[in-house]
Amino acid sequence: MIKYSVLTVSCAALTASLLLAGNGLAGDEYDVRALGPKNSIVWQTPIKAVFDHKVHTGDVGIECSTCHDDIFSMQRGTAVNSRKFTMKAMSEGQFCGVCHNGDDAFATDTNCMACHSAGEDPIVWNEPVKASFSHSKHVEEMELSCGDCHSGAFSMKVGSSSKNGDFTMASFKEGKYCGSCHNGDDAFDSSTQCESCHFPPTEKIVFSSPVKSVVFDHNIHVKKEELPCESCHKDVFIMKQGTVADNELSVSEDPDVKRKHLVDLHSKYCGTCHDSSQAFGYLTRCTVCHIGVKGFDQMNGGGKKESGHGSGH
Ligand code: HEC
Ligand code: HEC
Ligand code: HEC
Ligand code: HEC
Ligand code: HEC
Ligand code: HEC
Ligand code: HEC
Ligand code: HEC
Ligand code: HEC
Repeated sequence: MIKYSVLTVSCAALTASLLLAGNGLAGDEYDVRALGPKNSIVWQTPIKAVFDHKVHTGDVGIECSTCHDDIFSMQRGTAVNSRKFTMKAMSEGQFCGVCHNGDDAFATDTNCMACHSAGEDPIVWNEPVKASFSHSKHVEEMELSCGDCHSGAFSMKVGSSSKNGDFTMASFKEGKYCGSCHNGDDAFDSSTQCESCHFPPTEKIVFSSPVKSVVFDHNIHVKKEELPCESCHKDVFIMKQGTVADNELSVSEDPDVKRKHLVDLHSKYCGTCHDSSQAFGYLTRCTVCHIGVKGFDQMNGGGKKESGHGSGH
């Protein structure tokens, strides 16, 4: 059990100095004397860890003297500079492990993320496409250790991988980043189950080139028809807008050339399914996809005007 000893001299001295600094605080402002420093203590090396005074003093009700100076000095950095501030020492009942032993507070061999707060969980990348990663799932549920990822695959700073310029599915395939495990052996292959890391757009996608007014709805395809992301995003469309936009508009007046162009374009994309086999054929119901000006007005509640040449063909 924890021994709650009487207030030590150093704590009294500190209280005096904090009194000076904290004079005249309004009642509901943070009370440094009763709670200890307001800002969390954050260690960055060897890995990031966080200690919050208020949780311990205010919420749990531990006295300053319980920790200061028997367990910790009131000088930030002392523990880490001793070079003994390790998980091993804690599991042997030192430092945080005096209490975090599974009896007085949760043990140090569990709940890693409570102390090693990696900021937001999950981590979400928005560019170039939205993806997410959960520390707690990997550390607690999969029981991976920090070093499995942070000794090579990732640095401990959100955004560093994105800055490298090769944080891509292609790199994963070569065994880098997430692909160091998500290779089909150590964890599911990153070229499958796209939806476990990515999010389908909720808004309808509007194609506006080469012709305007083609609408694609993920909800219908993903939720209603339950098509896996890979059925489109592996070979047909990239998972961001613009796949079709690069295609040139047919300028030929020759009806045969024109028709061939249209067949090529449609069969390469939507027509991979919309060929009257899995889904209605693109040759039959043009206006289901090409919704035209009227369709747009309806979709936008009748308000927005769509100009252009894409209407009703
Ligand atoms: C559960 C343990 C615990 C309790 C209780 C506790 N502290 Fe601390 N305190 C720490 C730790 C850990 C550090 C950082 C020590 C280190 O880095 O070596 C620290 C550091 C400090 C520091 C130095 C901060 C800095 O920025 O340099 C002050 C001041 C401090 N505590 C005041 C208090 C006061 C006042 C109380 C009571 C209201 C209190 N502490 C209660 C654990 C505790
Ligand atoms: C004097 C005993 C004591 C010491 C020393 C101590 N803790 Fe705690 N800590 C507690 C108790 C008691 C709780 C609340 C009970 C629980 O969550 O199991 C707690 C809770 C926590 C929580 C949970 C906070 C939350 O929001 O739920 C974290 C994180 C934490 N401690 C980190 C640390 C770290 C890091 C250290 C060492 C730098 C440390 N503690 C040292 C007693 C202690
Ligand atoms: C009660 C808080 C607490 C819990 C729970 C905790 N740690 Fe720590 N850990 C610390 C503190 C404090 C340090 C020392 C400061 C630092 O290195 O950030 C540390 C240091 C480390 C280090 C670097 C030093 C060393 O021992 O090699 C690693 C790695 C580590 N922790 C991993 C883990 C893992 C994995 C878990 C879960 C199984 C875990 N920690 C649970 C508080 C905690
Ligand atoms: C399965 C892989 C994996 C494991 C295991 C893992 N991390 Fe991470 N961690 C990441 C990724 C990915 C990032 C984001 C890096 C990036 O954006 O380049 C990250 C980022 C971080 C960051 C930076 C957070 C920020 O807001 O900048 C910290 C701190 C961190 N991890 C701590 C830990 C600790 C501590 C452990 C062990 C308890 C751990 N990680 C285990 C993959 C992992
Ligand atoms: C294990 C998690 C994971 C899986 C599974 C996954 N991705 Fe990714 N993907 C990411 C992360 C992380 C990034 C990089 C950050 C970002 O762009 O959001 C990324 C980036 C991308 C990018 C932009 C960068 C690039 O490579 O061009 C595309 C496109 C993409 N993923 C498509 C897919 C498709 C399609 C699938 C399924 C066949 C898939 N992803 C499966 C995690 C995953
Ligand atoms: C050190 C190995 C490792 C790395 C690196 C790694 N993962 Fe994982 N991941 C796993 C394991 C193991 C599982 C669980 C086994 C499985 O589902 O195949 C898993 C499961 C997942 C899951 C499913 C979790 C759930 O909800 O059940 C997602 C999503 C995921 N990882 C995303 C990522 C992303 C994104 C990255 C890169 C930023 C990444 N992982 C990097 C090992 C890793
Ligand atoms: C039936 C085909 C199909 C399926 C299935 C599908 N998508 Fe898409 N997705 C598309 C098309 C078409 C686009 C637009 C591509 C373009 O403009 O080049 C797109 C674009 C995207 C974009 C980029 C959106 C933007 O605004 O940049 C994301 C992200 C995306 N899809 C995620 C997903 C996810 C996650 C799944 C699975 C849950 C999924 N998609 C399933 C066809 C599909
Ligand atoms: C399954 C959906 C779908 C159906 C059905 C469909 N289209 Fe398209 N169409 C598209 C998409 C996607 C594009 C390329 C994006 C854009 O131009 O907005 C396109 C582009 C076009 C273009 C512009 C190509 C160019 O380069 O000139 C024409 C013209 C066209 N379609 C005519 C038709 C006609 C005629 C029909 C009916 C016989 C039809 N489409 C049926 C989805 C469809
Ligand atoms: C992976 C196969 C697949 C691809 C690729 C695909 N679709 Fe579909 N789509 C379906 C299926 C299956 C249905 C439902 C059956 C049906 O309506 O014939 C459907 C239905 C639709 C519907 C009818 C929705 C309703 O209200 O009934 C539209 C519109 C549509 N798709 C547009 C598109 C467009 C535009 C593209 C290309 C950007 C596309 N689809 C690509 C499989 C696909």
